Amino acid sequence: MEFLKKYNLVLQEYLDNAVVHNEPTQLYDPIKYILSLGGKRLRPVLTLMVSDFFGNDFKKAIHAALAVELFHNFSLIHDDIMDNAPLRRGKKTVHEKWDTNTAILSGDAMLILAYRFFENYEPSMFQELAKVFSETALQVCEGQQHDMNFETRYDVTLEEYIAMINHKTAVLLGAAMKMGAIVGEASEGDKEKIYQFGRNLGIAFQLQDDYLDVFGDPETFGKQVGGDIISNKKTILYLLAIDASTQAQADELEHLFSINPNDPTDKISTVKEIFVVSGAAAKTQDEIKNYSNLAYSILDEIAISDEKKELFRKFGDNLMQRNV
Ligand code: IPE
Ligand code: IPE
Ligand code: MG
Ligand code: MG
Ligand code: MG
Repeated sequence: MEFLKKYNLVLQEYLDNAVVHNEPTQLYDPIKYILSLGGKRLRPVLTLMVSDFFGNDFKKAIHAALAVELFHNFSLIHDDIMDNAPLRRGKKTVHEKWDTNTAILSGDAMLILAYRFFENYEPSMFQELAKVFSETALQVCEGQQHDMNFETRYDVTLEEYIAMINHKTAVLLGAAMKMGAIVGEASEGDKEKIYQFGRNLGIAFQLQDDYLDVFGDPETFGKQVGGDIISNKKTILYLLAIDASTQAQADELEHLFSINPNDPTDKISTVKEIFVVSGAAAKTQDEIKNYSNLAYSILDEIAISDEKKELFRKFGDNLMQRNV
């Protein structure tokens, strides 16, 4: 998308210089490695875009944008340990390339580096940004713990699942946008509305991530396809499939999500088929649309031009059509 070019250019330049430390190399190399693998950079781009749309020089928001992207990458390093994931952005995960202890400490250092970017703002803005950031970071931890707890639970409700993804993923999108609004000195009302827009978009985004984890193309996805099935994650696909199944089918699915076979090939293909035949895959797509539309309806209330609202919609639609 052409209109994102100016944000991506500035972001790339700053990310290239974001980590100035070198020693010990075992601490900093994994940080440089994960950042060098790229990713979509959607959160920092949103921070810059929001700040720009509220009439600020968007470069002022670059430090907040870097904080968000470093925090996100820290969370991925630790998430990959927790999910036992071999691949990230088409390359080895940090704990696979080095080892788990290295990944833990590099992740910790990355979280601290993220916070330090706020030091570039004057005290009152620093305080407002740090408050949003700390609250969000804690919610991400809560979401991540629920996600792990759900692996061994069989009574997870759709409501609990939505609350879990709201915390592990959606609030960070909301916060990324709110921080852009804070730097852009938007009104209190607009800060809250843009947060709710980002949060609902974030729920749709995680639903799509769960969908792609099963139905993504291994050639392009960049992560292990079927990883959530291997880990017995109770995603929306599982919950909707259980809901739509006969007792016998539901029992089979529950059994499949209680085992950890050495070769998961058959488990993955059987589960995939159940997700399609039960209608869970199609219903997940419907829910992605519902949450995107909910996000867009909040957008209508924000005091920015229709032209800018249209660009947010374009961004959202593009995100939901992704294959990475
Ligand atoms: C992955 O986030 C983790 C989720 C919250 C689904 P992204 O899909 O934004 O990952 P990158 O940064 O583009 O690799
Ligand atoms: C990750 O959710 C959310 C965070 C990293 C906080 P997932 O576990 O689904 O993310 P991926 O699929 O590994 O990117
Ligand atoms: Mg994961
Ligand atoms: Mg995870
Ligand atoms: Mg995932």
